[in-house]
Amino acid sequence: LALIVLFVIIHHFGFPEFNTEYEDSLPAMYSSFKMNKSIVSLSSITPIKNSEHFIVSAFIEHRINKDIRIISIIKRQSLQPYLCIFCNNAHDCKFAKAEIEIHSDNFGFPFGASDVMCQGDGTENANQVALSINTDISHIYTTQFLPIKNRVEKYSFKYSFTVCISNLFGKYNNVLQFVQSMELYKLLGVQHVVIYNTSCGPDLEKLLQHYKREGILEIVPWPIDQFLNPSPGWNFTVHGGDLHYYGQLVTLNECIYRHMYQTEYILLNDIDEIIMPYKHINLQLLMEDLQSNNKDVGVFRIENHIFPKTKFEDNHRFRRPEWGNIPGINIMEHIYREPDRKNIYNPTKMIINPRMVMQTSVHSTLKHSGNVYLVPFDVCRIVHVRSPLQSHLSKNECFVDTRVWDFKDKLLPNVDRALQSSGLLQILD
Ligand SMILES: *[C@@H]1O[C@H](CO)[C@@H](O)[C@H](O)[C@H]1NC(C)=O
Ligand SMILES: *[C@@H]1O[C@H](CO)[C@@H](O)[C@H](O)[C@H]1NC(C)=O
Ligand SMILES: *[C@@H]1O[C@H](CO)[C@@H](O)[C@H](O)[C@H]1NC(C)=O
Repeated sequence: LALIVLFVIIHHFGFPEFNTEYEDSLPAMYSSFKMNKSIVSLSSITPIKNSEHFIVSAFIEHRINKDIRIISIIKRQSLQPYLCIFCNNAHDCKFAKAEIEIHSDNFGFPFGASDVMCQGDGTENANQVALSINTDISHIYTTQFLPIKNRVEKYSFKYSFTVCISNLFGKYNNVLQFVQSMELYKLLGVQHVVIYNTSCGPDLEKLLQHYKREGILEIVPWPIDQFLNPSPGWNFTVHGGDLHYYGQLVTLNECIYRHMYQTEYILLNDIDEIIMPYKHINLQLLMEDLQSNNKDVGVFRIENHIFPKTKFEDNHRFRRPEWGNIPGINIMEHIYREPDRKNIYNPTKMIINPRMVMQTSVHSTLKHSGNVYLVPFDVCRIVHVRSPLQSHLSKNECFVDTRVWDFKDKLLPNVDRALQSSGLLQILD
């Protein structure tokens, strides 16, 4: 976090008459002023001065009047009025009233993913924004501004498919499952993967560094534990803490806006889940097919299916000695899929067109344009290798699903190469 603190000087027409009181409708005299330099936050989580809230990142919202949208973390019971201050190169600053929209999904936690919207003439020309509790100039020049992203609306994209994986935390060190998933994703046509990193285990760290060097992986630092007591779970009554699941709802939304004009589609799923086409050889062909039959759809929901890590394939065909010392789950050994349960709905994850989504939760979007389509299970589903949900079932009561094996010829050497480049596997000749 680098802060550049510099002077703020008001131009020839002098100080506007700043009030320390917030006013509901701002007098015109507040509408514009000049600053020489501002403090720009380079952190991914920025506390709002003199408050309990945080701002994360800011974007031009081309779909809504070119307003400014600030992804934020708001303490729901401590709402206070804010002013937006938006500037073009720290000159030509303007005030506007901030509208706070707390997302409807907060799972009972005190802090919630939120949008703060700044509306007014000239938002589209601004390149930095801050929130302030008052108009006092000495307060403003010690306030941290965020750079405003997505200033240009684009119609062609660097990537076709980006995966947004929220929140790596604890000592998570499941290398084998992660490397297999990454290499499968590459074979399926994913060009970019984003992970929000609070912390991870030592071996996974080496693998992440490898993928970062390779260029496919973008790691967003997510030091949420330095600001709040993040919950390791999703249910406040059970898990406690300030914020749902290390801020998963915040990072999923942030990821959508961060890549809105960089990628055609975004896959929103967890680190141990693979959105797998079953009738197409890759995601491109899947989406061409789905989209041509559902032209107005921007949100494709994909059913989650559990492959218990406790049930192993009998012949140990993919229990390779090379991987004996690699920590984590070998997903190729877990081909038994739990059947649907009566009256229990399979949760979904999503493939979205980010330009049609305004707010998302984990299993569905909260605000979007266009329609939502539930993708049939036989066309595409999630391969989710994890602890069982129906541990009483025998192998015979589960389905055999070897879809992952279809990729073995390329997958095995690619996984070995990634492990070697990470320094996790000796080079064998
Ligand atoms: C701020 O801007 C004014 C007018 O442009 C200039 O006279 C002054 O030297 C600047 N101050 C700093 C610290 O850059
Ligand atoms: C993830 O975050 C931890 C804690 O800040 C840091 O030590 C580690 O280097 C990060 N890993 C990567 C790959 O960025
Ligand atoms: C959260 O856990 C509590 C206690 O087990 C339970 O009563 C409640 O239904 C759970 N919340 C949801 C949304 O499932």
